[in-house]
Amino acid sequence: MLRIGIAGIGFMGMVHYLSYQKLRGVKVTALCERDERRLTGDWRGIKGNFGPEGTQMDLAGVATYTELDAMLADQNVDAIDITLPPALHADIAVKALRAGKHVFCEKPMALTPADCQRMAKAAAAANKQLLIGHVLPYFPEYAWALKEIRSGKHGKLLGGSFKRVISDPAWLKNYWNPEIIGGPMLDLHVHDAHFIRLLFGMPLSVKTIGRTHNGLAAHWHTQFDYNSGEAGGADGPAVAATSGTIPQQGRPFLHGFEIHLERATLVFEFGILGGEGAYLCPPTLIDHRGKTTRPKLADGDPMHAFAAELKDVVRCLTKNETHPALGSELALDAIVLCQKQEESLAKGKIVKV
Ligand SMILES: NC(=O)c1ccc[n+]([C@@H]2O[C@H](COP(=O)([O-])OP(=O)(O)OC[C@H]3O[C@@H](n4cnc5c(N)ncnc54)[C@H](O)[C@@H]3O)[C@@H](O)[C@H]2O)c1
Repeated sequence: MLRIGIAGIGFMGMVHYLSYQKLRGVKVTALCERDERRLTGDWRGIKGNFGPEGTQMDLAGVATYTELDAMLADQNVDAIDITLPPALHADIAVKALRAGKHVFCEKPMALTPADCQRMAKAAAAANKQLLIGHVLPYFPEYAWALKEIRSGKHGKLLGGSFKRVISDPAWLKNYWNPEIIGGPMLDLHVHDAHFIRLLFGMPLSVKTIGRTHNGLAAHWHTQFDYNSGEAGGADGPAVAATSGTIPQQGRPFLHGFEIHLERATLVFEFGILGGEGAYLCPPTLIDHRGKTTRPKLADGDPMHAFAAELKDVVRCLTKNETHPALGSELALDAIVLCQKQEESLAKGKIVKV
């Protein structure tokens, strides 16, 4: 039985807690949260942009802490699940690893590549696992794309474009603070940066144009350059992403992709518009003969994606194994990509990766 201590009972802490309840071989034995009301089980008022709203919880049998150091000293805890604001990820992860715990940390891994490296080094030194919660590959549309691409039946990957745009989450008071959350580049686009890294590897350079807010990228378009020029032309995949926030609240969420392979194109776009979520383009495979097919996908409730992700986390931490999509190497690369895109936008230049 893997014993988990969750650090931070906000929106994600609650989502993780509820997801663990549905899994075998794992038990949440401790919680740490500085809001003492939440440690009594009063989770009313916790809410995010999906999943159930918080209710009164029965936390009998779960040790509760207001101080992270106290939870790290708990011998009844094998792994720490970090669902704290990003600025705290690195320090807590390093402490937890040094205390002999495995770590599962929500995205973004940390705010800077240097902090990510610090975390990875601590994991290697402690011989403990460090997994990062990049849940996107567990969403049905992205899992479908991965399966189609990896099947090899559509030939080589030629490129793709990826989109993720939300309404400005003005109610999150630290959203635009580079020291605490880092704006939409690290909070939002990091999902696609990770997925692009998973599919295509690291580009040679990035070029980003767009607008800024508070000195941070607000809405932008990036081209990821994979062309070495060695073959005398465009020899690598053509990859682009659009991401960021819009100032209007009427479309709180939009994501999608168009992925090009030699013998197929995969497309989809989902948005919440005027309060209703709908496919603007349903997941569709366009084959080389011009035929279009729509896959039957599992329902898109994000809670199911988290349950699937945490199932893999529990298996890996129980066996002390890493995971191809949740490992810290890709998560670090995603932060490097975000940082380079932010730099390219600020300087108005192509930035080498
Ligand atoms: N994968 C996803 O789709 C997804 C979605 C939302 C959030 N997240 C990530 O989850 C993490 C948390 O985000 P959230 O939306 O749950 O934030 P949140 O603000 O709702 O929750 C954070 C909690 O940590 C607590 N906290 C802060 N400092 C603390 C300390 N020193 N000791 C103990 N508790 C402390 C706060 O009181 C709060 O309850 C972030 O990294 C965020 O990017 C991921």
